[in-house]
Parts: sequence; C-alpha cells; structure tokens
Amino acid sequence: MEKIKPNDNVLFFYNDSKKWLMRVAPKQKFHTHVGIIDHKKVIGKPYGIAIKTNKGKLIFALKPTIYDYVMKSQRSTQIVYPKDLGYIAARIGLQSGFKIVEIGTGSGSFTTFLASIVKPKGHVYTYDVDENFMAIARKNIEKAGMSKFVTMTKLDIKTAKKMPQKDADVVIVDLGDPWVVVPQARKMLKGSGSFVAICPTMNQLEKLAAALRQNDFFDIECSEQIVRTIEARDGKTRHSFRAIGHTTYVAFARKVTTPASLRKILEPVEQPEVETEEIESSEDESLSTVKK
Ligand SMILES: C[S@@+](CC[C@H](N)C(=O)[O-])C[C@H]1O[C@@H](n2cnc3c(N)ncnc32)[C@H](O)[C@@H]1O
Repeated sequence: MEKIKPNDNVLFFYNDSKKWLMRVAPKQKFHTHVGIIDHKKVIGKPYGIAIKTNKGKLIFALKPTIYDYVMKSQRSTQIVYPKDLGYIAARIGLQSGFKIVEIGTGSGSFTTFLASIVKPKGHVYTYDVDENFMAIARKNIEKAGMSKFVTMTKLDIKTAKKMPQKDADVVIVDLGDPWVVVPQARKMLKGSGSFVAICPTMNQLEKLAAALRQNDFFDIECSEQIVRTIEARDGKTRHSFRAIGHTTYVAFARKVTTPASLRKILEPVEQPEVETEEIESSEDESLSTVKK
C-alpha cells in the first residue's frame, strides 16, 4: 500500500468545490474555513485516509490525478480544460512514445497532460515567447512530475528561420491566430501526423480551415465538446445547477501530400446547402410561409 511521504503531493478533499493540492511537510499546518489541516496527520498513512480538522470536519487525503494537476495549475493564461483534453487525446490517438510539438505553452497545463500520456519514451517540445508565462508553466509541469518529458524553449515560431523540430506525430497550436503557423506546423509534422488547434471563436475556425485546405491538410474537423454534470440522488437526479460554459472549439486535421498529378481529382470543398422548407401555419394564416 502506497504511504504518503514528506514532499509528496496530496489533494486534501473536503468537497467538489473545496479541495487543496499541496506538497506535505511535517511541520506544515494549513488554515481553511473548515479548520486546520495538519500535514503530520497524513504523513506515513496510506492515500485515501480521512483526517479530522480542529473544527471536526472530515478531509480526505487523495493522490492527485492529472485532472487535479490541470485544474489546480497556477494560471497565467487561459488553459485547456479536461473535457477538451479528453476528446483531443481520443481524436489524435495520443499514446506513449509520441513526439509532440506545442506552439503556445501558456500556463503549461496542456503540456502537463500531454507529457503524462507520452511518457516515458515520448516527449513534448513546447514553445512560447513570454518568459513570465514560461516560468509559471515550468513550475506547474515540475509540480506534476513531468519535467523530464518536456523541453521548453523561448522561440517565436511565426518568425523562426528554421523549424526546431521535424517528424512530429502531433503539432498543437494554442495562439490567437493559428492559421499563421499552419505552414510551419506542416514542416514539423510527419506524413499523416495530426494538427490540433484551440480556437475559442468560430471566426478563428473559418480562417484556420481555409489555411489548412491551402496547405494540403485533410480530414479537417471542427468541434465543440459539451459536458453536463448530473447530480445523482435517490429520487432527485437532475442536471447540476453549476455548468461549464463555453471553453473552446477544437480544430483537427491530418497532413497529407497530394502530388500535382493527382490534384485535379480533388473535389472542390463542398459548401453546405442552405435548406429552404415551407411550413404552413394552421393557426395564423398571416404567418403562412416561413423560410428556414
Ligand atoms: C492561450 S495561451 C496557451 C495556453 C496553454 N494551452 C495552456 O493550456 O496552458 C497562448 C500562449 O501562446 C504564446 N504565444 C503567442 N505568440 C506566440 C508565438 N509566436 N510563438 C510561440 N508562442 C506564442 C503566448 O505567450 C501564450 O503563452
């Protein structure tokens, strides 16, 4: 059974909205509104143990998961949330051993998640231009124990003369103008490798999709992941009042190579048809036809 040692990370869990992730030290006492959490009560005990605060409240000492590290990361920028991370991982077949290039480290929360899956043989090469953000990201990545699997470099990918990587399995872009770095991403990807971009607005998706088509990417998908939490209680199960609002849209594409001789076979991009349907109103003749 794994016992909690000094310097281990512990998630002290009171309830879903009151939980604290910290490194335990024998002399540390942490003050909360539900009482004092005395670290020495958990050191030497197995993960999962419950302790009592001086106000008599129960706190559980949990082993943090990658979800906890992402949600509790220090934030200097917008982060990518677990609901989006999960679909991205499935969509690109993220696995141990992958070589990942990330453009826009930000707070390093996405980096931490990626490293936790590609380790021990894979690696995340992450690039940013802001040293302050990079310092915070470094701390977040280190706290989650992922530093060995991440190389962080200050580099402006938009203006870099030479691309720093090649043969990447995946290139992930989290910039305001992801379409600008599509040619750079292409140079760093291996054939059929995946491109992923985090796009909080639909306007970004439009420009990005056009750039992807122009740069010989295929299997383009733009999507939004919606998660609704349910409160399950005897006879009173319903959606939670607290909901995650809009986080981001995500764009995916694969790098392909279409030789000039085959280009003419490519069909022009289909424009979705706008359907017009006539609806007769039986109640109010003045509203006789409505175009949808
Ligand atoms: C929204 S944040 C990324 C957040 C990150 N995905 C996370 O989950 O923590 C965007 C980052 O892109 C960086 N950035 C902006 N322009 C860049 C460029 N040309 N090359 C590399 N990084 C850039 C910014 O400094 C910022 O840290």
